[in-house]
Amino acid sequence: MSIAAPEPKANMGRPEPRLDARLKVTGEARYPSDVPVGNPLHAVLVTSAIAKGRLDRLDTEAARAVPGVVEIFTAENTRELKPLEYTPGGGGASTSVQGLGPDIAHDGQIIAMVVAESFEVAREAAYKVKATYAREAPSASFGAAGLDEKPAGKEFPKAGDAAAALSAADVVVDAEYGTPTQHHNPIELFTTTCVWDGEHLTVHEPSQFVYGLKNSVAKRLGIDPAKVRVVSTYIGGAFGSKAQLTPRTPLVALAAKRLGRPVKLVASRDQGFTIATYRAETKHRIRLGARRDGKITAYTHDGREVTSRPDAYKVAGVSDTVRLYDFGTVATSVNVVHADRNTPGFMRSPPVVPYVYALESAMDELAVALGMDPVELRRINDVTKDTVSGKSWSSRSLMKCYDEAAAAFGWSRRTAEPGSMRDGEWLVGWGCATACYPTHMAATTARVRLLPSGEVRVQVAAHDIGTGAYTVIGQTAAERLGVPLAAVTVELGDSDLPPGPVAGGSTTTASTCSAVIKACDAIREKLVRAASTANDGPLAGRSPSDLSFTDGRAVASDGAAESVADVMQRLGTAALEEYAEYIPHGVQQDGIRKLYSGRAAMTGGPHGDKIMYALGAEFVEVRVHARTREVRVPRAVGAFAGGRILNPRTAHSQLMGGMIWGIGSALHEATEIDPREARYVNDNISEYLIPVNADVPRIDVIMVPEEDAEVNPAGVKGLGELGNVGTAAAIANAVYHATGKRIRDLPIRIEDLL
Ligand code: MOS
Repeated sequence: MSIAAPEPKANMGRPEPRLDARLKVTGEARYPSDVPVGNPLHAVLVTSAIAKGRLDRLDTEAARAVPGVVEIFTAENTRELKPLEYTPGGGGASTSVQGLGPDIAHDGQIIAMVVAESFEVAREAAYKVKATYAREAPSASFGAAGLDEKPAGKEFPKAGDAAAALSAADVVVDAEYGTPTQHHNPIELFTTTCVWDGEHLTVHEPSQFVYGLKNSVAKRLGIDPAKVRVVSTYIGGAFGSKAQLTPRTPLVALAAKRLGRPVKLVASRDQGFTIATYRAETKHRIRLGARRDGKITAYTHDGREVTSRPDAYKVAGVSDTVRLYDFGTVATSVNVVHADRNTPGFMRSPPVVPYVYALESAMDELAVALGMDPVELRRINDVTKDTVSGKSWSSRSLMKCYDEAAAAFGWSRRTAEPGSMRDGEWLVGWGCATACYPTHMAATTARVRLLPSGEVRVQVAAHDIGTGAYTVIGQTAAERLGVPLAAVTVELGDSDLPPGPVAGGSTTTASTCSAVIKACDAIREKLVRAASTANDGPLAGRSPSDLSFTDGRAVASDGAAESVADVMQRLGTAALEEYAEYIPHGVQQDGIRKLYSGRAAMTGGPHGDKIMYALGAEFVEVRVHARTREVRVPRAVGAFAGGRILNPRTAHSQLMGGMIWGIGSALHEATEIDPREARYVNDNISEYLIPVNADVPRIDVIMVPEEDAEVNPAGVKGLGELGNVGTAAAIANAVYHATGKRIRDLPIRIEDLL
């Protein structure tokens, strides 16, 4: 496999290596729990062994007797923490379950925290904390007794009379699908280190939204947010799990305050399954009606999603799936199913992963029912005007993606009959599906500073969760100010910097780069004015529109030039600094004020005047062993269009990583739940299956050039959450093609194919 960086095509930037690559591979990059703090104490959590009931007694005597134990925090001595309202959006509380008892709302709820001189002592003492419970039988998931199911709201997309269209349809597909529980399992664990300096608190915690964390932790502590700083320079994976305030953070902050020393918590892998969020299991019933010629006339989609008892978290991906094709008529609903579980939350491509899996499987079933090629079915139903809202798209390259991916894959050699492409012992199947992700933009700020030497510093409290944000933000400033990338320093992930967007909804590149462009343009304007209005300079009297910036110089079209250093000298300034606020079209003017107070203001996707999505087409080959039914994926091709690609190397990496996750979603990944105890069973990464190298074959990522002047000033459609959408459906569709067996519940396992 080639490791060369992808060559940029039209409307793509340079494939620069990551600015943080060397720091990360040499271990020099300091993740939040690596930051040295003076004389820290170490905390270990104690979590509930029941999912529902009451904590009757907590015996801490034996634990306190372990030498080196300093304090044990329980419900008794943490009452001063203020409850914070649950908010599903970025930055708020991840759950309403914030107390350490006596009421127990889910397995693995935090019931105590031991603080000691060393991690080992704290862990030993934590084992010696004895809890006595009054246990009630929990409801674990779909099918359990005692669940509470309700509509997740009143308004879900609807257009025309879908019931009538279904009864009039020539062909109807009516099928049910299911997706499993998944946990993020970032390699970096859920850590929190708190340091007080008088009234001022510094929190070192991996975060996708440092302003959100800062404001939320201040609320729970009952202090002024101005006294809290959150630092999260590097994040070792997040996928949505680090976007909110979990109950651990205020506990650690309180402990550090009371004990007068820094306190560091590194929660264990299994605790990460219950003290943070996860992707909940879903069920879907879909009906598609079509005419004999393939034109779809009706689409109904009824989704059901598990959530906790108190919090009605939902992803409601019908708002996205209804945009994908020209459906004629649409009827959708979403129910939440309250169970005795921790509150779920965002996980990479939250709404579209389960809902697009279901729709794209149903599309394949419809193609089979019509005897039609699945790519042709999508072509016939390609959309220019949204079925529900009548809005048009800012840009849409879906069929271009299909054509490029199909050609690269060799799709034309496919024979339609299931089992018809056998190769010896192996049943070969080819399948495809659509990937999509809504283009979100968020209000954000940025500060850019230019020195006469040509050095540039960009500051914004945005986050690089491993995606390449440092690099693309640096490239944007370098390009705009005409300096080499090496001259740019990018500072992110610190709430002392001007606020940036939550690193969720794939907003970072589109939003932050738009703010950086605005700040750079303000600097350019000052330079241009100084260069062109001077009486004596080489650019005197030039029209501002005639000047561009390159190699540290302002250059006119006829080649006349003046160095930025000289222009700045004329301005009499040692540095040019601009602070900019970017408010995307569709976000209220108070979006920046909200951002400062830790609330994200977002727009895009199905909202606004235009429908805005990044799109893709994924093709996979599966091989199912005729006797053992082992499923392998020898190759996968994805073609994607996401507006301007700022860096083909980092974009390629996001898309490829997404497809690998998609393979895992199709064939490996699921959190197993013990139905009697509502407990996660495989809560470690040896039993929580994800693809290893041997499962990841050749993956070809094709970036399809696309221009979109409407989405945002950067022209970018976020694609961090695009690649893992569609892959699972493509694999399920290929498994059907190989075997004639339609598997509708993920993941697909050998036993499903026997
Ligand atoms: Mo992503 S799940 O929107 O952090």
